Amino acid sequence: MCDNKVMKRIAILGGTFSPVHIEHVLLAKSAIKELALDKLIVMPTFISPHKSEVPLCSSHRLNMLKLAFKDVEKVEVSDFEIEKQGKSYTYQTVEHFKSSEDAELFFIVGGDMLTDFPTWRYPERILSACTLAVFDREGFYTDYDGLTKYFMDTFGKTFIKLNHVGRDASSTKIRIYSALSLPLDNLTTKEVEEYIIKNRLYQDFEFADIVKKTLPEKRLIHTANVVICALKRAKELGLENKKVITATMLHDFAKYIDYKTVEGFTVSEDVPEPVIHAFLGAYLAEKHLKITDREVLDAIKYHTSGRPNMTTLEKLVFVADMVEDGRTYDGVEELRKSYNEDDFERCFFKCLEEETVHLINKKQKIYHLTLEAYNYYK
Ligand SMILES: [Fe+2]
Ligand SMILES: [Fe+2]
Repeated sequence: MCDNKVMKRIAILGGTFSPVHIEHVLLAKSAIKELALDKLIVMPTFISPHKSEVPLCSSHRLNMLKLAFKDVEKVEVSDFEIEKQGKSYTYQTVEHFKSSEDAELFFIVGGDMLTDFPTWRYPERILSACTLAVFDREGFYTDYDGLTKYFMDTFGKTFIKLNHVGRDASSTKIRIYSALSLPLDNLTTKEVEEYIIKNRLYQDFEFADIVKKTLPEKRLIHTANVVICALKRAKELGLENKKVITATMLHDFAKYIDYKTVEGFTVSEDVPEPVIHAFLGAYLAEKHLKITDREVLDAIKYHTSGRPNMTTLEKLVFVADMVEDGRTYDGVEELRKSYNEDDFERCFFKCLEEETVHLINKKQKIYHLTLEAYNYYK
């Protein structure tokens, strides 16, 4: 008698899921199809080894996952890592499921994480327990040929590439939008959105309460988008998330304050109207919000005009302000593409050039700092 039993196919989709967003659901559905899975285990981490902050209370994250996946067949939300507590190492999880389930095991991972994989705890043990199934993420370039060779040379095993491409969505966006009381349309499922509102989750975000008081909804959306946009490249540029968040969150917070009414604030006559809010923002951030970090204050101050010899944080706020997802001016698509793909300095100069040319074409007064910045970086 021969044994015709076909092995079950199971994949694990891990993550912090704080909270689960719509792209997680789409990814799960694609993976079930593409890998012909019998089961997909959705695994919220207790504490991710890749992140320093402790995520929101585990029971909320679990409840939201159950709501998000309640109608998705073959999905099982697991509390294995949460019950285990401590740092959630992938090798322990895959080894546990390899021994408890008689199945061929896959572990789903984004292309952007693949480059870091060799630094994970015991990568070779992960690969002997499962096969990595990799999906692409929009806006992230991954050198698959180079990685395939590296994996073969280092581990003697490579990975499977899924066709699924994840759109740009993030839990961070949901957290910022929630803190700013902005609608979560299309960011997560309706039930998860209701759960977040009902339980008043994600209400704390640096300076959200300040900007909520000073900015109308349209400008709040822009602000949230600038924060998210800047965070995308912060790590690669060696910038602390906290600084990036403070500078971007506050960059426009003085936009609707009449500078003439602010005691002690003076501005020289040659500063054009559209630039004043940046100077005022830096002034108020220092005087009233008691921010002392010069780098942050300067990033707020020069986000509109630029200046020669800018710090990396100044450049990042300047660029993110110009290319965030809500911007629609002519030429923004190309700049956004450059932000996602090019060397950052190159993208920064393109933005500076775009601003200078735009002001010249519109025959608007160019502030001397902008012109000096352009000539400095040209
Ligand atoms: Fe601004
Ligand atoms: Fe702005």
